[in-house]
Amino acid sequence: MHLVLWAALSLPLAGDTLPDCPRLASSGGSTDLYCIELAAAPGYGARGSAELSWDGGPFTVGVSPDGTARWRVRFRLDSLPRPRGPRAGMVAWAASPAMNTVTRLGVVRDGTNDLGPVTLDRFLLLISAEPDTTAPEWRGPMVLRGESASNRLRPADNFQFFLGFTGQSSGMPEHAHHHVGPDSTGWGPVPMFPGLDMLGAEMALRPGVSPAPWPGGMDPPSARPHETVTLRTGDTLDLVAGPVLRSIAGRTYRMLGFNGQYPGPLLRVERGAEVVVRLVNHLEAPTTVHWHGIRLENAFDGVPGLTQPAVPPGGSFVYRLRFPDAGIFWYHPHVREDQQQDLGLYGNLFVTSPGAPPAPGREEFLILDDLLVGEEGLVPYGAEQATHAAMGRFGNVMLVNGESSWRGTVRGGEVVRFYLTNVANTRTFNLSFGEGSRIKLLASDQGPYARESWVSSVVIAPAERYVVDVAFPARGAAALVNRVRGIDHLYGRFFNVTDTLGTIAIAGRASPPAGFDRLATSSEARQLDSLVAAHAGGTPEHTLELRVAFTGLPFVSEALMRLDSIYFNPVEWEGTMPGMNWATTGREARWILRDLATGRENMDIHWRFRRGTLTHLRLVGARNTLHGMQHPIHLHGQRFLVLSVNGVPNRNPVWKDTVLVPAGTSVDLLADMSNPGSWMLHCHIAEHLESAMMMHFDVEE
Ligand code: C2O
Ligand code: CU
Repeated sequence: MHLVLWAALSLPLAGDTLPDCPRLASSGGSTDLYCIELAAAPGYGARGSAELSWDGGPFTVGVSPDGTARWRVRFRLDSLPRPRGPRAGMVAWAASPAMNTVTRLGVVRDGTNDLGPVTLDRFLLLISAEPDTTAPEWRGPMVLRGESASNRLRPADNFQFFLGFTGQSSGMPEHAHHHVGPDSTGWGPVPMFPGLDMLGAEMALRPGVSPAPWPGGMDPPSARPHETVTLRTGDTLDLVAGPVLRSIAGRTYRMLGFNGQYPGPLLRVERGAEVVVRLVNHLEAPTTVHWHGIRLENAFDGVPGLTQPAVPPGGSFVYRLRFPDAGIFWYHPHVREDQQQDLGLYGNLFVTSPGAPPAPGREEFLILDDLLVGEEGLVPYGAEQATHAAMGRFGNVMLVNGESSWRGTVRGGEVVRFYLTNVANTRTFNLSFGEGSRIKLLASDQGPYARESWVSSVVIAPAERYVVDVAFPARGAAALVNRVRGIDHLYGRFFNVTDTLGTIAIAGRASPPAGFDRLATSSEARQLDSLVAAHAGGTPEHTLELRVAFTGLPFVSEALMRLDSIYFNPVEWEGTMPGMNWATTGREARWILRDLATGRENMDIHWRFRRGTLTHLRLVGARNTLHGMQHPIHLHGQRFLVLSVNGVPNRNPVWKDTVLVPAGTSVDLLADMSNPGSWMLHCHIAEHLESAMMMHFDVEE
């Protein structure tokens, strides 16, 4: 009897033929965040789901220039009613929660319907029976409805909760920023996020490590703007890492520089060149240099403990570099990046290709960064461990090439080629070039896209590079801006953030070069497309899950994160929990790469590949973890293509070495394991790397 009942229950019910978001589910992406169950209105037997799908790129996260999330929507529908009439049918709509904007997505039928885009932070999806499906406005009865996971952020709940458990006085949000010097822990206050209420209990937190002393000894020299150094085969460059004085936005700080410059010298080499760089360590701490993205000889990769011993203070190390690929790369220490790199140890490496067509106009190399400045100066770094081990150290002063008010001049109509590199510890930028500018996306980390494309903004995660040609409007001024949406966790709302990174004066006129309107196709396009086509539907050889484990968190931090785990933004664009983030160190946070096949984690993982193999890897941002966020994952010494994001195949591949894996999202890669040696794979959020989020693999002859 029981057996029969069980069998009957497990049989599909009539119409029960739709697994929820099967493409998403089989990719490993989070159905909780990106699959919406549609509920039928009373009286209807219709059913269905809506998958919030990747917008298809060119970036792994869809976002509009103002920072609003952008999705395609795949509806899977069954048993829709069939309204009568020559123009009658079913129509899908996207609406803001208060229904003050309702956008028509299109006509839907039973089966799979791909629609969109939907550009809203939080929204409802509605399907109505319309007497006239060509009408622009919603009129008919609602049949199915659902809401985005972001809509679960609710204001009052969180706030009431906090008043309840923290007690009236410490629970009240604080606007005032009291001036307090360092307390008995040695730490001063950390800057709050302007305009947001913070819980007193959160702002009272302090990191459980001591503040690191500032570099510099007696009198560090004042840093100078960087030089361009052209190196040819056989040349040797001395690269001296040492303390400098920097003046930023009218204040002077003790920081670090290569050869006394900010950023480090821009190194120009030709593809195929072989040069020598001698690192001289004038720091008070050990260091190395990693040549990010260069497929060089393993011994010179700069990873302490894996490819070389760290260079002690006063020591030196000789790097023999070869450059098999043209493009824009960068270099930085591979020791305490959260501190050494953040204090100024970074520079670009530009590998030119002798046969390449010249840029249409001027070339600008822009290194994007942010710096965390408090009332007392720079917020100190943790001595024993990195601070900000939760979300990474978000800065509050934006830097372009080390300057807080970068200025450029262009002529109206001029096309400028920008080589963009993000060296920030954790911030992902959503960069645009001002009203009326047109942005043509050409290349990324390891070379050109299969096809050039127009973009309205550039999403650039830590360690990524993008190359764009920008045509400026005929008159006016342009601003280099980062526009994103932050989350006010206390009140459960999204808000606008605009950071101006620089201003571009438009002086005089130039005629746009002929052919700017054309989008070129790379000579490698066929090859890249066929690699994606051949592997995108395949099974990954290895799957890594990205998660976090916390131990010994203060009660308020743990409670905040628990509440907050109702929803993870695909990208945490802004640091809006500054106290809790700051006070979390590598002692409390352990960020994890977990090999799903073996259960091994971080440096216990040891993959082996035969040289010359193409390997299908899957990176999945875990949903069931206390805090989920994006991770820019970097593979040393090799290159890869993005095959798909949440199961949606990539239409425009490009060779990369760093990829942004949004929260709850699955990203499939095809790695070209052609460079022998022992290499790292890690998250490029400096504080996550400091909190163990790294592994290694061997490529063997
Ligand atoms: Cu730019 Cu191991 O990193
Ligand atoms: Cu990370």
